[in-house]
Amino acid sequence: MPSDPTSAAVLSPHLWLPFTPNRDFARQPKILAAASGVHYRDTAGRPILDGSSGLFSVAAGHGREEIVRAVATQLEQLDFAPTFYRAHPPGFEAARRLASILPEGLDRVFFVNSGSEAVDSAMKIALAYHRARGEARRTIFVSRERAYHGVNLGGLSLAGIVNNRRAFAGALPGVPLLRHTLLPGQRFVLGEPAEGAELADDLLRIIASHGAENIAAVFVEPIAGSTGVIVPPRGYLQRLREITRAHGILLVFDEVITGFGRTGQAFASQSFGVVPDLLTMAKAITNGVIPAGAVAVDRRIQQTIFDAAPEQQIEFFHGYTTGGHPVAAAAAIATLALYEREKLFERGRALAPYFLERLATLRELPVVADLRGYGLLAGVEFAPDGAPGARGYRLQQTLFDAGLHLKTTGDTAILAPPLVATPAHVDEIVSILRRVLAAERV
Ligand SMILES: Cc1ncc(COP(=O)(O)O)c(C=O)c1O
Repeated sequence: MPSDPTSAAVLSPHLWLPFTPNRDFARQPKILAAASGVHYRDTAGRPILDGSSGLFSVAAGHGREEIVRAVATQLEQLDFAPTFYRAHPPGFEAARRLASILPEGLDRVFFVNSGSEAVDSAMKIALAYHRARGEARRTIFVSRERAYHGVNLGGLSLAGIVNNRRAFAGALPGVPLLRHTLLPGQRFVLGEPAEGAELADDLLRIIASHGAENIAAVFVEPIAGSTGVIVPPRGYLQRLREITRAHGILLVFDEVITGFGRTGQAFASQSFGVVPDLLTMAKAITNGVIPAGAVAVDRRIQQTIFDAAPEQQIEFFHGYTTGGHPVAAAAAIATLALYEREKLFERGRALAPYFLERLATLRELPVVADLRGYGLLAGVEFAPDGAPGARGYRLQQTLFDAGLHLKTTGDTAILAPPLVATPAHVDEIVSILRRVLAAERV
């Protein structure tokens, strides 16, 4: 390891990057060496505006002293504790704090290390619940086209991203998919589209062909995030809720991106007024500082699972060595305290109209094929240039060089600035986008 962490010598062929064209990366590496507030710095010390909160994680901005201190203090006090047959104080406190911002009744918290683990854990909780009720036949999961639920084999089976599944398809159970909710011809709708709630009736078609008595749960992201920001039509989630409830099917919201103020409330469940049975979260739970995730579970579901097992017997045979790690719990407590003290969900909600309004001005650029968004989450879709995704890949590199970090998926840029961003940061995001996109030929 070189002593200067910004030295070019940090580059080594030993590091295999995830979800990255590694060989191309080696030719034009983008290295993040430091961060504070809403900016990263590259190895030359050049500021790069963080347009995607890292990877939808750093809601409170980078370098938050309170979280750093909480992590350091926890490391000194109790660096590791198993959570099988044991517990620790920050675990209880993190769960209690989460329960206080979760939808009413959804207040039992199972900790994991990531969004992918949260999704797989939620799948198993759903199966355990039905089995506990004597409905062990309910093993089918339903998901949706253009969904992303992580990369573990459970969540991958739910996902509707073809490239992620292609190499592993044979290892995945088949999952019936609802249609996605981006209607043909629907473009430049910011906020909830007025049309399309009836797409939820797709679930009735799936029920008719598979039998409700065989279906365990429906998984949806309230807003599909990683596949390009698809906002649900008004009434769609309510309709899914009605149908799942009527047929004894659990509804799971995957809020790994939409949680923690991204949509103006603590969770999108609250923004859209629909309470699921299970809710998965990760990323901003610790402001991205320490890996963590969780499943919030309706207390009646937990009770059913507990009641089915004799006392002194494990109720749920599942868990990860580092799930609910004391340091992650301490980071979550400090993060949730920051969100509350600085009223960051309200702050994000207040900034959202300006953010969406300013982004909407990019509509006039020929390369901008669509704009979608809700809260502080937006997708800017580019007209394709040759192979699908080629322009998106090229543009995220060019934008980085122009001083803006953002995530692209295919030909869509996904913007999710930290909740602490100001209108001036929004202006800067839009101005960099405008400058770079205006140079694109269509
Ligand atoms: C909705 C959703 N679920 C699950 C995941 C997977 O989370 P992780 O990468 O922490 O495993 C993601 C990641 O972006 C996500 O957006």
